[in-house]
Amino acid sequence: MESEPRQIAIIGAGYVGLSAAVCLSYMGNIVRCSDLNHERVSLLATGKSPIYETGLEELLGAGIDSGNLSFGTDNLWAVELADLVFLCLPTPQGPEGRADVSRVEEVAREIGPHLRSGCIVVNKSTVPVGSARMVQRAVGRRDVAVASNPEFLREGSAIQDFLHPDRIVIGADDEHVAMRVASLYMQLGAPLVVTDPATAETIKYASNAFLATKVSFVNALAALCEAIGADMASVVRGMGFDPRIGGAYLQPGPGWGGSCFPKDTAALVRLGDDAGYDFSLLRGAIAVNEQQHGRVLEKTVRLAGGSVLDARVAIWGLTFKAGTDDLRYSPALELAGRLRELGAKVAVYDPTVSGELDGLEVAPDPYAAATGAVVTVVATEWDEFRWLDFNKVGEIVARRAIVDARNLLDRDALRRAGFAYEGIGVR
Ligand code: UDX
Repeated sequence: MESEPRQIAIIGAGYVGLSAAVCLSYMGNIVRCSDLNHERVSLLATGKSPIYETGLEELLGAGIDSGNLSFGTDNLWAVELADLVFLCLPTPQGPEGRADVSRVEEVAREIGPHLRSGCIVVNKSTVPVGSARMVQRAVGRRDVAVASNPEFLREGSAIQDFLHPDRIVIGADDEHVAMRVASLYMQLGAPLVVTDPATAETIKYASNAFLATKVSFVNALAALCEAIGADMASVVRGMGFDPRIGGAYLQPGPGWGGSCFPKDTAALVRLGDDAGYDFSLLRGAIAVNEQQHGRVLEKTVRLAGGSVLDARVAIWGLTFKAGTDDLRYSPALELAGRLRELGAKVAVYDPTVSGELDGLEVAPDPYAAATGAVVTVVATEWDEFRWLDFNKVGEIVARRAIVDARNLLDRDALRRAGFAYEGIGVR
Protein backbone atom coordinates (compact mmCIF):
# COMPACT_ATOMS: atom_id res chain seq x y z
CA MET A 1 0.00 0.00 0.00
CA GLU A 2 1.11 3.54 -0.67
CA SER A 3 1.43 6.25 1.89
CA GLU A 4 -1.07 9.08 1.64
CA PRO A 5 -1.79 11.62 0.27
CA ARG A 6 -1.94 10.45 -3.30
CA GLN A 7 -1.83 12.70 -6.31
CA ILE A 8 -4.87 12.07 -8.46
CA ALA A 9 -5.92 13.35 -11.86
CA ILE A 10 -9.54 13.25 -12.95
CA ILE A 11 -10.21 13.84 -16.62
CA GLY A 12 -13.77 14.93 -17.25
CA ALA A 13 -15.90 16.94 -14.81
CA GLY A 14 -19.32 15.45 -15.58
CA TYR A 15 -21.45 13.73 -12.93
CA VAL A 16 -18.99 10.90 -12.37
CA GLY A 17 -15.78 12.93 -12.67
CA LEU A 18 -16.92 15.79 -10.53
CA SER A 19 -18.34 13.55 -7.81
CA ALA A 20 -15.11 11.53 -7.80
CA ALA A 21 -12.99 14.70 -7.70
CA VAL A 22 -14.73 16.28 -4.72
CA CYS A 23 -15.03 13.00 -2.81
CA LEU A 24 -11.45 11.84 -3.40
CA SER A 25 -10.16 15.25 -2.28
CA TYR A 26 -12.46 15.07 0.78
CA MET A 27 -10.93 11.63 1.49
CA GLY A 28 -7.49 13.23 1.81
CA ASN A 29 -6.03 13.05 -1.68
CA ILE A 30 -4.63 15.86 -3.81
CA VAL A 31 -6.83 16.11 -6.86
CA ARG A 32 -6.47 17.95 -10.15
CA CYS A 33 -9.54 17.78 -12.35
CA SER A 34 -9.59 18.83 -16.00
CA ASP A 35 -12.42 19.36 -18.44
CA LEU A 36 -12.33 20.87 -21.91
CA ASN A 37 -15.35 23.07 -21.16
CA HIS A 38 -13.86 26.45 -20.13
CA GLU A 39 -17.12 27.79 -18.76
CA ARG A 40 -17.58 24.73 -16.53
CA VAL A 41 -14.02 24.94 -15.24
CA SER A 42 -14.26 28.68 -14.45
CA LEU A 43 -17.47 28.08 -12.54
CA LEU A 44 -15.96 25.17 -10.61
CA ALA A 45 -12.86 27.17 -9.75
CA THR A 46 -15.10 29.67 -7.93
CA GLY A 47 -16.68 26.83 -5.90
CA LYS A 48 -19.94 26.70 -7.87
CA SER A 49 -21.29 23.44 -9.24
CA PRO A 50 -22.63 23.32 -12.81
CA ILE A 51 -24.91 20.43 -11.76
CA TYR A 52 -27.51 20.10 -9.03
CA GLU A 53 -26.28 17.47 -6.60
CA THR A 54 -26.90 17.35 -2.85
CA GLY A 55 -23.72 18.01 -0.82
CA LEU A 56 -21.53 18.61 -3.85
CA GLU A 57 -20.97 22.35 -3.43
CA GLU A 58 -20.01 21.93 0.24
CA LEU A 59 -17.27 19.40 -0.63
CA LEU A 60 -16.24 21.47 -3.63
CA GLY A 61 -15.77 24.59 -1.47
CA ALA A 62 -13.93 22.65 1.23
CA GLY A 63 -11.61 21.04 -1.34
CA ILE A 64 -10.75 24.33 -3.02
CA ASP A 65 -10.19 26.08 0.34
CA SER A 66 -7.88 23.29 1.55
CA GLY A 67 -5.79 23.63 -1.62
CA ASN A 68 -6.26 19.89 -2.34
CA LEU A 69 -8.70 20.33 -5.20
CA SER A 70 -8.09 22.34 -8.34
CA PHE A 71 -9.61 22.61 -11.81
CA GLY A 72 -8.18 23.36 -15.23
CA THR A 73 -8.77 22.81 -18.91
CA ASP A 74 -5.39 21.24 -19.64
CA ASN A 75 -5.27 17.43 -19.34
CA LEU A 76 -1.47 17.48 -19.28
CA TRP A 77 -1.47 19.80 -16.27
CA ALA A 78 -3.89 17.42 -14.54
CA VAL A 79 -1.73 14.32 -15.06
CA GLU A 80 1.66 15.98 -14.48
CA LEU A 81 2.13 14.69 -10.90
CA ALA A 82 -0.51 11.98 -10.81
CA ASP A 83 -0.08 8.49 -9.31
CA LEU A 84 -3.58 7.64 -10.52
CA VAL A 85 -5.44 9.08 -13.50
CA PHE A 86 -9.21 8.55 -13.65
CA LEU A 87 -10.84 8.77 -17.07
CA CYS A 88 -14.38 10.01 -16.48
CA LEU A 89 -15.25 10.84 -20.06
CA PRO A 90 -18.54 10.60 -21.92
CA THR A 91 -19.22 7.40 -23.84
CA PRO A 92 -22.35 8.42 -25.76
CA GLN A 93 -24.52 6.05 -27.73
CA GLY A 94 -22.88 5.63 -31.11
CA PRO A 95 -24.01 3.94 -34.32
CA GLU A 96 -26.17 0.81 -33.88
CA GLY A 97 -26.29 1.21 -30.11
CA ARG A 98 -22.55 0.73 -29.54
CA ALA A 99 -20.94 3.01 -26.96
CA ASP A 100 -18.73 5.59 -28.64
CA VAL A 101 -15.34 5.45 -26.92
CA SER A 102 -13.51 7.81 -29.25
CA ARG A 103 -13.15 10.52 -26.58
CA VAL A 104 -11.60 8.00 -24.15
CA GLU A 105 -9.16 6.84 -26.81
CA GLU A 106 -8.20 10.40 -27.83
CA VAL A 107 -7.46 11.40 -24.25
CA ALA A 108 -5.49 8.21 -23.56
CA ARG A 109 -3.34 8.99 -26.62
CA GLU A 110 -2.92 12.62 -25.57
CA ILE A 111 -1.82 11.92 -22.00
CA GLY A 112 0.17 8.73 -22.68
CA PRO A 113 3.61 10.27 -23.26
CA HIS A 114 3.20 12.65 -20.29
CA LEU A 115 2.32 10.17 -17.54
CA ARG A 116 4.69 9.52 -14.67
CA SER A 117 6.33 6.14 -14.70
CA GLY A 118 4.39 3.70 -12.49
CA CYS A 119 1.17 5.65 -12.81
CA ILE A 120 -2.16 3.81 -13.19
CA VAL A 121 -4.82 4.93 -15.65
CA VAL A 122 -8.27 4.00 -14.38
CA ASN A 123 -11.40 3.83 -16.54
CA LYS A 124 -14.33 5.07 -14.48
CA SER A 125 -16.76 5.86 -17.27
CA THR A 126 -19.00 3.03 -18.45
CA VAL A 127 -16.98 1.59 -21.28
CA PRO A 128 -17.54 -1.48 -23.44
CA VAL A 129 -15.87 -4.70 -22.58
CA GLY A 130 -12.33 -4.63 -23.91
CA SER A 131 -11.84 -0.89 -23.37
CA ALA A 132 -9.07 -1.34 -20.80
CA ARG A 133 -7.00 -3.01 -23.50
CA MET A 134 -7.83 -0.25 -25.96
CA VAL A 135 -6.72 2.36 -23.41
CA GLN A 136 -3.51 0.41 -22.72
CA ARG A 137 -2.71 0.48 -26.45
CA ALA A 138 -3.59 4.18 -26.77
CA VAL A 139 -1.46 5.10 -23.76
CA GLY A 140 1.36 3.14 -25.38
CA ARG A 141 3.50 2.69 -22.28
CA ARG A 142 4.83 -0.47 -20.60
CA ASP A 143 5.49 1.37 -17.35
CA VAL A 144 1.87 2.57 -17.02
CA ALA A 145 -0.89 0.14 -16.00
CA VAL A 146 -4.57 0.38 -16.89
CA ALA A 147 -7.41 -0.67 -14.61
CA SER A 148 -11.17 -0.54 -14.67
CA ASN A 149 -13.09 0.86 -11.70
CA PRO A 150 -16.75 1.34 -12.67
CA GLU A 151 -18.81 3.85 -10.78
CA PHE A 152 -22.32 3.00 -9.61
CA LEU A 153 -23.46 6.37 -8.28
CA ARG A 154 -26.96 7.64 -9.00
CA GLU A 155 -27.65 11.19 -10.00
CA GLY A 156 -29.23 13.12 -7.15
CA SER A 157 -27.41 11.07 -4.51
CA ALA A 158 -24.00 10.99 -6.16
CA ILE A 159 -21.99 12.16 -3.16
CA GLN A 160 -23.77 9.88 -0.73
CA ASP A 161 -23.36 6.93 -3.15
CA PHE A 162 -19.67 7.65 -3.72
CA LEU A 163 -18.86 7.89 -0.02
CA HIS A 164 -21.08 4.95 0.98
CA PRO A 165 -20.79 2.50 -1.91
CA ASP A 166 -22.45 -0.94 -1.87
CA ARG A 167 -19.29 -2.36 -3.39
CA ILE A 168 -16.04 -1.35 -5.04
CA VAL A 169 -15.27 -3.16 -8.29
CA ILE A 170 -11.76 -3.14 -9.66
CA GLY A 171 -10.59 -4.85 -12.80
CA ALA A 172 -6.88 -5.21 -13.43
CA ASP A 173 -4.59 -7.84 -14.90
CA ASP A 174 -2.09 -7.39 -12.09
CA GLU A 175 -3.15 -7.84 -8.48
CA HIS A 176 -0.67 -5.26 -7.23
CA VAL A 177 -2.22 -2.67 -9.55
CA ALA A 178 -5.72 -3.62 -8.34
CA MET A 179 -4.67 -3.21 -4.71
CA ARG A 180 -3.14 0.19 -5.36
CA VAL A 181 -6.49 1.34 -6.74
CA ALA A 182 -8.36 -0.44 -3.93
CA SER A 183 -6.26 1.29 -1.26
CA LEU A 184 -7.95 4.56 -2.23
CA TYR A 185 -11.29 3.23 -1.02
CA MET A 186 -10.25 1.17 2.01
CA GLN A 187 -11.53 3.80 4.45
CA LEU A 188 -15.06 3.42 3.00
CA GLY A 189 -15.36 -0.15 4.29
CA ALA A 190 -17.25 -1.46 1.24
CA PRO A 191 -16.97 -5.02 -0.08
CA LEU A 192 -14.28 -5.29 -2.71
CA VAL A 193 -14.60 -7.25 -5.95
CA VAL A 194 -11.27 -7.64 -7.70
CA THR A 195 -11.34 -9.19 -11.13
CA ASP A 196 -10.01 -8.78 -14.65
CA PRO A 197 -10.84 -5.60 -16.62
CA ALA A 198 -13.35 -7.21 -19.02
CA THR A 199 -15.31 -8.69 -16.10
CA ALA A 200 -15.33 -5.37 -14.22
CA GLU A 201 -16.64 -3.63 -17.33
CA THR A 202 -19.35 -6.29 -17.66
CA ILE A 203 -20.41 -5.86 -14.01
CA LYS A 204 -21.29 -2.23 -14.68
CA TYR A 205 -23.41 -2.99 -17.75
CA ALA A 206 -25.01 -5.98 -16.06
CA SER A 207 -25.99 -3.93 -13.00
CA ASN A 208 -27.63 -1.15 -15.01
CA ALA A 209 -29.31 -3.59 -17.37
CA PHE A 210 -30.67 -5.63 -14.46
CA LEU A 211 -32.14 -2.55 -12.76
CA ALA A 212 -33.64 -1.32 -16.03
CA THR A 213 -35.16 -4.78 -16.56
CA LYS A 214 -36.57 -4.73 -13.03
CA VAL A 215 -38.29 -1.39 -13.69
CA SER A 216 -39.58 -2.61 -17.07
CA PHE A 217 -40.95 -5.74 -15.37
CA VAL A 218 -42.80 -3.55 -12.92
CA ASN A 219 -44.16 -1.29 -15.68
CA ALA A 220 -45.35 -4.35 -17.61
CA LEU A 221 -46.94 -5.74 -14.45
CA ALA A 222 -48.67 -2.39 -13.91
CA ALA A 223 -50.22 -2.70 -17.38
CA LEU A 224 -51.40 -6.20 -16.50
CA CYS A 225 -52.84 -4.96 -13.19
CA GLU A 226 -54.85 -2.36 -15.09
CA ALA A 227 -56.15 -5.01 -17.46
CA ILE A 228 -57.21 -7.45 -14.73
CA GLY A 229 -58.22 -4.96 -12.06
CA ALA A 230 -55.46 -5.69 -9.52
CA ASP A 231 -53.80 -2.92 -7.52
CA MET A 232 -50.16 -2.45 -8.43
CA ALA A 233 -49.32 -0.47 -5.28
CA SER A 234 -50.23 -3.49 -3.13
CA VAL A 235 -48.63 -5.95 -5.55
CA VAL A 236 -45.34 -4.06 -5.23
CA ARG A 237 -45.60 -3.94 -1.46
CA GLY A 238 -46.33 -7.63 -1.33
CA MET A 239 -43.37 -8.46 -3.56
CA GLY A 240 -40.85 -6.13 -1.97
CA PHE A 241 -40.81 -7.84 1.43
CA ASP A 242 -39.17 -10.88 -0.16
CA PRO A 243 -35.44 -10.22 0.27
CA ARG A 244 -34.74 -12.17 -2.93
CA ILE A 245 -36.77 -9.55 -4.81
CA GLY A 246 -36.11 -6.47 -2.70
CA GLY A 247 -38.32 -3.40 -2.43
CA ALA A 248 -36.09 -1.04 -4.44
CA TYR A 249 -36.66 -0.29 -8.14
CA LEU A 250 -40.19 -1.54 -7.99
CA GLN A 251 -41.95 1.78 -8.62
CA PRO A 252 -43.95 1.89 -11.84
CA GLY A 253 -43.53 5.13 -13.74
CA PRO A 254 -43.39 6.76 -17.15
CA GLY A 255 -40.46 4.53 -18.18
CA TRP A 256 -36.81 4.76 -17.32
CA GLY A 257 -34.58 7.48 -18.71
CA GLY A 258 -31.41 9.36 -17.83
CA SER A 259 -27.90 9.22 -19.10
CA CYS A 260 -27.22 5.57 -18.22
CA PHE A 261 -30.07 3.07 -18.55
CA PRO A 262 -31.04 3.82 -22.18
CA LYS A 263 -27.45 3.96 -23.38
CA ASP A 264 -26.16 1.00 -21.38
CA THR A 265 -29.05 -1.35 -22.21
CA ALA A 266 -28.60 -0.58 -25.93
CA ALA A 267 -24.85 -1.11 -25.62
CA LEU A 268 -25.25 -4.47 -23.87
CA VAL A 269 -27.68 -5.74 -26.51
CA ARG A 270 -25.19 -4.63 -29.16
CA LEU A 271 -22.33 -6.27 -27.29
CA GLY A 272 -24.32 -9.52 -27.33
CA ASP A 273 -25.08 -9.18 -31.06
CA ASP A 274 -21.42 -8.58 -31.83
CA ALA A 275 -20.49 -11.68 -29.84
CA GLY A 276 -23.21 -13.83 -31.44
CA TYR A 277 -25.66 -13.80 -28.50
CA ASP A 278 -29.18 -12.44 -28.91
CA PHE A 279 -30.01 -10.81 -25.55
CA SER A 280 -33.75 -11.08 -26.18
CA LEU A 281 -34.64 -10.56 -22.51
CA LEU A 282 -32.98 -7.16 -22.53
CA ARG A 283 -34.50 -6.31 -25.92
CA GLY A 284 -37.85 -7.02 -24.29
CA ALA A 285 -37.06 -4.68 -21.38
CA ILE A 286 -36.20 -1.91 -23.85
CA ALA A 287 -39.37 -2.54 -25.86
CA VAL A 288 -41.50 -2.40 -22.70
CA ASN A 289 -39.88 0.92 -21.85
CA GLU A 290 -40.83 2.34 -25.24
CA GLN A 291 -44.38 1.00 -24.85
CA GLN A 292 -44.57 2.71 -21.47
CA HIS A 293 -44.04 6.12 -23.10
CA GLY A 294 -46.96 5.31 -25.40
CA ARG A 295 -49.13 4.18 -22.49
CA VAL A 296 -48.68 7.47 -20.62
CA LEU A 297 -49.50 9.36 -23.83
CA GLU A 298 -52.66 7.28 -24.33
CA LYS A 299 -53.84 7.99 -20.78
CA THR A 300 -53.19 11.70 -21.28
CA VAL A 301 -55.17 11.89 -24.52
CA ARG A 302 -58.00 9.84 -23.01
CA LEU A 303 -58.29 12.09 -19.96
CA ALA A 304 -58.14 15.15 -22.20
CA GLY A 305 -61.41 13.92 -23.71
CA GLY A 306 -60.06 11.99 -26.69
CA SER A 307 -58.00 14.67 -28.44
CA VAL A 308 -55.37 17.23 -27.49
CA LEU A 309 -55.52 19.12 -30.79
CA ASP A 310 -55.18 22.85 -30.00
CA ALA A 311 -55.66 22.06 -26.30
CA ARG A 312 -53.37 23.07 -23.48
CA VAL A 313 -51.70 20.21 -21.60
CA ALA A 314 -49.65 20.76 -18.44
CA ILE A 315 -46.66 18.61 -17.49
CA TRP A 316 -45.38 18.82 -13.94
CA GLY A 317 -41.77 17.67 -13.77
CA LEU A 318 -39.40 17.46 -16.70
CA THR A 319 -36.23 15.84 -15.38
CA PHE A 320 -35.85 12.07 -15.87
CA LYS A 321 -36.37 11.58 -12.13
CA ALA A 322 -36.58 13.80 -9.04
CA GLY A 323 -33.48 15.11 -7.30
CA THR A 324 -31.56 15.96 -10.47
CA ASP A 325 -31.63 18.72 -13.07
CA ASP A 326 -30.79 16.25 -15.85
CA LEU A 327 -33.12 16.18 -18.84
CA ARG A 328 -31.26 13.56 -20.85
CA TYR A 329 -33.57 10.83 -22.16
CA SER A 330 -36.32 12.16 -19.92
CA PRO A 331 -39.69 10.42 -20.38
CA ALA A 332 -41.32 13.80 -19.63
CA LEU A 333 -39.65 15.40 -22.64
CA GLU A 334 -40.59 12.41 -24.77
CA LEU A 335 -44.22 12.87 -23.70
CA ALA A 336 -44.09 16.62 -24.37
CA GLY A 337 -42.74 15.96 -27.88
CA ARG A 338 -45.45 13.39 -28.69
CA LEU A 339 -48.20 15.67 -27.36
CA ARG A 340 -46.95 18.48 -29.57
CA GLU A 341 -47.01 16.16 -32.56
CA LEU A 342 -50.69 15.60 -31.76
CA GLY A 343 -51.27 19.37 -31.86
CA ALA A 344 -51.24 20.15 -28.12
CA LYS A 345 -49.88 23.33 -26.59
CA VAL A 346 -47.65 22.05 -23.82
CA ALA A 347 -46.91 24.05 -20.68
CA VAL A 348 -44.32 22.64 -18.30
CA TYR A 349 -43.08 23.29 -14.82
CA ASP A 350 -40.00 21.80 -13.16
CA PRO A 351 -38.26 23.20 -10.08
CA THR A 352 -34.88 22.93 -11.81
CA VAL A 353 -35.84 24.26 -15.23
CA SER A 354 -36.16 27.89 -16.28
CA GLY A 355 -35.65 29.84 -19.50
CA GLU A 356 -36.41 28.66 -22.99
CA LEU A 357 -37.18 25.11 -24.05
CA ASP A 358 -37.85 24.44 -27.69
CA GLY A 359 -41.61 24.71 -28.37
CA LEU A 360 -42.63 24.42 -24.72
CA GLU A 361 -44.01 27.08 -22.43
CA VAL A 362 -41.88 26.95 -19.29
CA ALA A 363 -44.07 28.15 -16.41
CA PRO A 364 -42.72 29.72 -13.20
CA ASP A 365 -44.81 27.46 -10.94
CA PRO A 366 -47.12 24.43 -11.18
CA TYR A 367 -50.28 26.56 -11.01
CA ALA A 368 -49.20 28.73 -13.95
CA ALA A 369 -48.50 25.59 -15.98
CA ALA A 370 -51.90 24.07 -15.14
CA THR A 371 -53.96 27.20 -15.86
CA GLY A 372 -56.37 26.37 -18.66
CA ALA A 373 -55.04 22.81 -19.06
CA VAL A 374 -57.41 20.08 -20.25
CA VAL A 375 -55.21 17.52 -18.52
CA THR A 376 -52.24 17.74 -16.15
CA VAL A 377 -49.52 15.07 -16.08
CA VAL A 378 -47.20 14.38 -13.14
CA ALA A 379 -44.10 13.18 -14.99
CA THR A 380 -41.41 13.51 -12.31
CA GLU A 381 -41.81 12.58 -8.64
CA TRP A 382 -40.86 15.97 -7.15
CA ASP A 383 -42.20 15.94 -3.60
CA GLU A 384 -43.56 19.49 -3.86
CA PHE A 385 -46.36 18.29 -6.17
CA ARG A 386 -47.87 16.35 -3.29
CA TRP A 387 -48.38 19.51 -1.28
CA LEU A 388 -50.11 21.68 -3.87
CA ASP A 389 -53.48 23.28 -3.16
CA PHE A 390 -55.67 21.05 -5.34
CA ASN A 391 -58.77 23.18 -4.69
CA LYS A 392 -56.90 26.01 -6.37
CA VAL A 393 -55.71 23.66 -9.14
CA GLY A 394 -59.33 22.57 -9.67
CA GLU A 395 -60.39 26.19 -10.18
CA ILE A 396 -57.71 27.15 -12.73
CA VAL A 397 -57.67 24.09 -15.01
CA ALA A 398 -60.01 23.70 -18.01
CA ARG A 399 -60.77 20.08 -16.97
CA ARG A 400 -60.16 18.38 -13.67
CA ALA A 401 -58.03 15.56 -15.04
CA ILE A 402 -54.71 14.27 -13.77
CA VAL A 403 -52.44 11.57 -15.13
CA ASP A 404 -50.12 10.70 -12.28
CA ALA A 405 -47.31 8.84 -14.05
CA ARG A 406 -45.44 8.46 -10.74
CA ASN A 407 -48.33 7.40 -8.48
CA LEU A 408 -47.27 10.34 -6.32
CA LEU A 409 -50.53 12.07 -5.43
CA ASP A 410 -53.35 11.16 -3.03
CA ARG A 411 -55.76 9.67 -5.55
CA ASP A 412 -58.68 9.33 -3.15
CA ALA A 413 -58.46 12.99 -2.13
CA LEU A 414 -58.23 14.05 -5.77
CA ARG A 415 -61.24 11.97 -6.78
CA ARG A 416 -63.21 13.42 -3.85
CA ALA A 417 -62.28 16.86 -5.17
CA GLY A 418 -63.84 15.93 -8.52
CA PHE A 419 -60.71 15.08 -10.50
CA ALA A 420 -60.56 12.27 -13.04
CA TYR A 421 -57.38 10.50 -11.90
CA GLU A 422 -55.24 7.87 -13.61
CA GLY A 423 -52.08 6.47 -12.10
CA ILE A 424 -49.92 3.62 -13.34
CA GLY A 425 -51.37 0.22 -12.49
CA VAL A 426 -53.47 1.60 -9.63
CA ARG A 427 -57.27 1.55 -9.47
C1 UDX B 1 -28.36 4.67 -12.75
C2 UDX B 1 -27.86 3.59 -11.79
O1 UDX B 1 -28.78 3.46 -10.70
C3 UDX B 1 -26.47 3.93 -11.27
O2 UDX B 1 -25.98 2.86 -10.46
C4 UDX B 1 -25.54 4.14 -12.46
O3 UDX B 1 -24.26 4.53 -12.01
C5 UDX B 1 -26.11 5.21 -13.39
O4 UDX B 1 -27.43 4.83 -13.80
P1 UDX B 1 -29.37 7.13 -12.53
O5 UDX B 1 -29.33 7.23 -14.02
O6 UDX B 1 -28.95 8.29 -11.71
O7 UDX B 1 -28.51 5.88 -12.01
O8 UDX B 1 -30.91 6.81 -12.19
P2 UDX B 1 -31.71 5.80 -11.26
O9 UDX B 1 -32.01 6.43 -9.96
O10 UDX B 1 -31.12 4.45 -11.22
O11 UDX B 1 -33.08 5.73 -12.10
C6 UDX B 1 -33.07 5.32 -13.46
C7 UDX B 1 -34.44 5.45 -14.08
O12 UDX B 1 -35.33 4.46 -13.59
C8 UDX B 1 -35.12 6.79 -13.83
O13 UDX B 1 -35.75 7.21 -15.02
C9 UDX B 1 -36.11 6.48 -12.73
O14 UDX B 1 -37.22 7.35 -12.73
C10 UDX B 1 -36.52 5.06 -13.11
N1 UDX B 1 -37.02 4.29 -11.97
C11 UDX B 1 -36.18 3.92 -10.97
C12 UDX B 1 -38.37 3.91 -11.94
O15 UDX B 1 -39.14 4.24 -12.85
N2 UDX B 1 -38.79 3.15 -10.89
C13 UDX B 1 -37.97 2.77 -9.87
O16 UDX B 1 -38.45 2.08 -8.95
C14 UDX B 1 -36.63 3.17 -9.91
